[in-house]
Amino acid sequence: MEEMIRSAAAQFETLLREQLQRQRDMETEACRKNFENAEKICIGIIDGDGIGPIIMKEAVRVLEKLLEDEVKSGRVCLTRIEGLTIENRLACGQSVPEETLAAIRTCDVLLKGPTTTPKGGNMESANVTLRRELDLYANVRPVRVPEENIDWVFFRENTEGEYALGSRGIEVPGLLSMDFKVTTDAGTRRIARAAFDYARRNGKNNVAIVTKANIMKKTDGMFSRIAHETAAEYPEIQAEDWYIDIMSANLVNPAVRSRYQVFLLPNLYGDILTDEAAQIQGGVGTAGSANLGDRYAMFEAIHGSAPRKIEAGEGDYANPASILKAAEMMLRHIAMPEKADLLQEAMRICTETERRVVVTGHRDGASCREFGDYLLETLSTLQAGTGAHAGNARS
Ligand code: IPM
Ligand code: MG
Repeated sequence: MEEMIRSAAAQFETLLREQLQRQRDMETEACRKNFENAEKICIGIIDGDGIGPIIMKEAVRVLEKLLEDEVKSGRVCLTRIEGLTIENRLACGQSVPEETLAAIRTCDVLLKGPTTTPKGGNMESANVTLRRELDLYANVRPVRVPEENIDWVFFRENTEGEYALGSRGIEVPGLLSMDFKVTTDAGTRRIARAAFDYARRNGKNNVAIVTKANIMKKTDGMFSRIAHETAAEYPEIQAEDWYIDIMSANLVNPAVRSRYQVFLLPNLYGDILTDEAAQIQGGVGTAGSANLGDRYAMFEAIHGSAPRKIEAGEGDYANPASILKAAEMMLRHIAMPEKADLLQEAMRICTETERRVVVTGHRDGASCREFGDYLLETLSTLQAGTGAHAGNARS
């Protein structure tokens, strides 16, 4: 037992030193790419597992259509990144195999299908690895329910909290397990800034800071304090403190939920609350997610690879709406707002107003492919209307 305690204490020291180094590294700012004037933009395409390849196929068809001119001229490249399947990751014993990570680093942005995370064991989730390795610290998740006047944007811290060391806890076999939660000064400041900057740029006057600082006194206490320090630089925006439990209740309370605008939360609460929010919007299959860092950005669906759906033989009926929303966010990020608007409008027509082809996620609905065809058709009609289709592109 004494030996076990000593080895656990040594492991803790290693973790503490690593995390202090990470906090120091964050203080040096990476430079951001200006996509507006970029000569070349490289988009990495990662299929993922389970329903990933099925929904990604439709997203890629849409991108190929919207970016036809740019791909032809060589300004945009769509690069397939192989090797992020669960089979290959297990075979290599790496959550993101080295070669795959090297290929990813040659891209500017990524559109990624869901990847399966093995439960238990030591294999880290590919998402968590990518968020850490590419330093994608802001997880931005919009949720809208127009008929209820709900327009929420979640700013979830994406590299810290319970996730930073989630695969590196301590165990005294049969007796005790301990995981660690990490909050850093620099890590909190940068996500707080992202949330308040967003609020300011978009004319929002309220940011809800969501923690459990009454219980997680050190980590959430620090998160809340720094969030308020940041808020002081945005006097036109009201910063409100909420605990995650009551906020979870508020989101299912139609009498109050539409008053919230921007949410700022640590990693795990953000994970959970955004699934709840997505369900209110119509299901996790409808919500997109942006993982933003200073150098890289990765766009994905907020849901997982849906192994149960695959097992039930219903993979082909998966809803691609989430990954299409992610594709729209990606187009905005690379400074192509007209293309993003076009996709948003086509999605609005296909899923809200016209709804000629409806995906339910099951056999009773249209297939993912059928919805893709419908969306492409709708895009063509819209492009013809604006004169923005490939053959008639504006310079
Ligand atoms: C998400 C997912 C991931 C997370 C999983 C796949 C590791 O649930 O992006 O919300 O927990 O962050
Ligand atoms: Mg999640």
